[in-house]
Amino acid sequence: MDEENLDIKEKNRSKPDMSSLSPRYQKIWERVKDELSSSSHGIDHTGRVYRLSKTLADDETERDVLTPAALLHDIAREKEDSDQTGEIDHARLGAEMAEEILIQNGFDEQKIERIKHCILTHRYRSGKRPKTKEAKILSDADKLDAIGAVGIARSFIVAGEYDEVLYRDVDVEYYAQDNLTEEGRVIEVQKHAPNLEYELKLKKIKERLFTDKAKRIGKERQEFMESFFRRLKREIEGKK
Ligand SMILES: [Fe+2]
Ligand SMILES: [Fe+2]
Repeated sequence: MDEENLDIKEKNRSKPDMSSLSPRYQKIWERVKDELSSSSHGIDHTGRVYRLSKTLADDETERDVLTPAALLHDIAREKEDSDQTGEIDHARLGAEMAEEILIQNGFDEQKIERIKHCILTHRYRSGKRPKTKEAKILSDADKLDAIGAVGIARSFIVAGEYDEVLYRDVDVEYYAQDNLTEEGRVIEVQKHAPNLEYELKLKKIKERLFTDKAKRIGKERQEFMESFFRRLKREIEGKK
């Protein structure tokens, strides 16, 4: 096997295995893959949210609402990220894009409305809250993927993308006043660091979970992050 083919094989291996999806969902998954390519909020995140939402679902969950909602929830993410005007909300645009794809794939009107509600409300910042069980599960799966080991890994990927440092030992309150907007957006990205992301944002995510199962998983993930960042501080200070 030549080097190029080996490379392609390796890249494919790191993608989440979605072979258990039915042909109808495979088609949706392929469409979503075309839209997403960035590392921290890309297709891998969608794969994890899909698997987590299956973990959070129970016998009463409408799977034909939850599965397409999980697959499609961030379809407009890159459109929002590359938008210069700041007016695109990926939850809102994503719901519109999803509608078209769902019609093409033969979903009925009532299901489409329920799926759109999940996508529209998955984003905490948009101010709309999930009302249905499926929407709550999707929101929870999305939040859980920002914390725990994955949350730590994602915060370091973002740190690499924006040239942040590994760790910043500063007063968190003072830092927040100096470098966060009122809505909590980072002003100067180079001043940010994963431990500050943890202290100011990731720590609070567990409070935004809806379902009991997600709350249990969230508690565990939170404790893991707490111990990781405590240890990171110790190691950076040269302690054992
Ligand atoms: Fe999102
Ligand atoms: Fe997401």
